[in-house]
Amino acid sequence: MAPKNPKHMVLTTFMLPAGYHKDSWRMEGSRSEELANLDFVYDLTKMAEDAKLDAIFFGDIVHANTVMRGDIKMNGFYEPMTVLSALAARTKNIGLIGTVSTSFSEPYNVARQMAGLDHMSGGRAGWNIVTSSDGFQNFGITEAPDPATRYRRATEFVDVVQKLWDSWEDDAVTNNKETGWYVDAAKIHPINHRGEFFSVEGAINMPRSPQGRPVLVQAGSSGPGMELGSSVADGIYTAQPMKEPSVEFYAKFKAMAEAKGRRARDVQIIPGILPILGDTQAEADELAEHLANHIHLDNGRVQVGADLKMDLSSLAFNESIPAEWFSDDPALGSRYQIYRRKSVDQGMSLRELIVDLARSTGHQWMAGTPAAVADRMIDWFDSKACDGFNLNSPFNPGGFKLICDKLVPELTERGYFRSEYEGSTLRDNLGLSRPSSIRTNVLA
Ligand SMILES: Cc1cc2nc3c(=O)[nH]c(=O)nc-3n(C[C@H](O)[C@H](O)[C@H](O)COP(=O)(O)O)c2cc1C
Repeated sequence: MAPKNPKHMVLTTFMLPAGYHKDSWRMEGSRSEELANLDFVYDLTKMAEDAKLDAIFFGDIVHANTVMRGDIKMNGFYEPMTVLSALAARTKNIGLIGTVSTSFSEPYNVARQMAGLDHMSGGRAGWNIVTSSDGFQNFGITEAPDPATRYRRATEFVDVVQKLWDSWEDDAVTNNKETGWYVDAAKIHPINHRGEFFSVEGAINMPRSPQGRPVLVQAGSSGPGMELGSSVADGIYTAQPMKEPSVEFYAKFKAMAEAKGRRARDVQIIPGILPILGDTQAEADELAEHLANHIHLDNGRVQVGADLKMDLSSLAFNESIPAEWFSDDPALGSRYQIYRRKSVDQGMSLRELIVDLARSTGHQWMAGTPAAVADRMIDWFDSKACDGFNLNSPFNPGGFKLICDKLVPELTERGYFRSEYEGSTLRDNLGLSRPSSIRTNVLA
């Protein structure tokens, strides 16, 4: 196995078959009638695997609020663990990262599901840890707990899951037909966890998985989010629309990880980017405008209002949201501040804000030629604003095909991305070592 070249970016893709750009499913050729269908999502995954991307990534929400407000991109048609299991059977190399919230399940369930996916895919599973801000009413909870409580639960949740993954020593399976013992029971250890939120005796009921532990990804940029991410995550998803703040975020995150005794390179910072590609700048701009023309503006107003927790019904599309409507409450999250900057500092009108958010939801977006978009990505990478990108496909399948056929090869040609997978596991391809078990460290 060749080690990952440190000059290569990490490239994953946010798998939203309806297209990341709001309402792009309305475009001709969108295959929107096939949403929830395995063949469609497989075709997109195959494109990603042929382009040698590190991983596909499924987000998840556990409510129908956004779809009922007219935004279908984050619908739950593709529940991550089920669709990733199906895709594991049809793919060979690409990483399979799924979002599972720590607010609605038990660590024992998630530990089994993720380790099971890791076994079945030969070591390609990843878990995007989120705490969720919506959907509590579907789980018998009338109000979302405050962020600090959600993150305390998340931290304990992940700790339990990791202990469960490590509860079998690597050589616990003996498969000894003569003695009649399939396992060496002395190498399987209860975890006896008693904490604020969970009591778990353990052990897990399956062998340690090919990666030892599936890859952990985290996507919170608030104080408690960064605390958790810098402690445990291998990858950090983040919305960073501007380079300088991303450079600061990168440096801060790496320093936090190092202060916890981790190696900076073992926590990879992966902001999103939405590339709208054309053979000329004029063609890319035209495509951006064409996409914008599909936006349902009234739904957009409701969506932005819901995201910002504001009633925008009295505002004209050519007016900006007044500065005094915004709050300083940090509990509203880091994306809220991005919207605020665009609205207040950059003076975007409501229509411009709707279009901007439709493209990016707070992430960076760019319309340009593959060479120009690659220039920007390389500049961010070389400036230590990121270790790579999560590619948001503006529309499917056409927009993703442009990314895979034109942008990724441009990065490869310039020496910033692989032409072949380095290894067979997601950890191999990300350049991360297989973690030894917590238990082995204790014994060593
Ligand atoms: C790229 C990216 C993907 C995310 N995916 C999800 C998701 O699928 N489900 C979810 O509930 N939250 C998702 N989030 C939201 C984060 O988990 C987190 O709630 C949000 O960033 C606010 O947290 P913070 O206040 O710590 O920044 C995502 C965030 C980012 C940047």
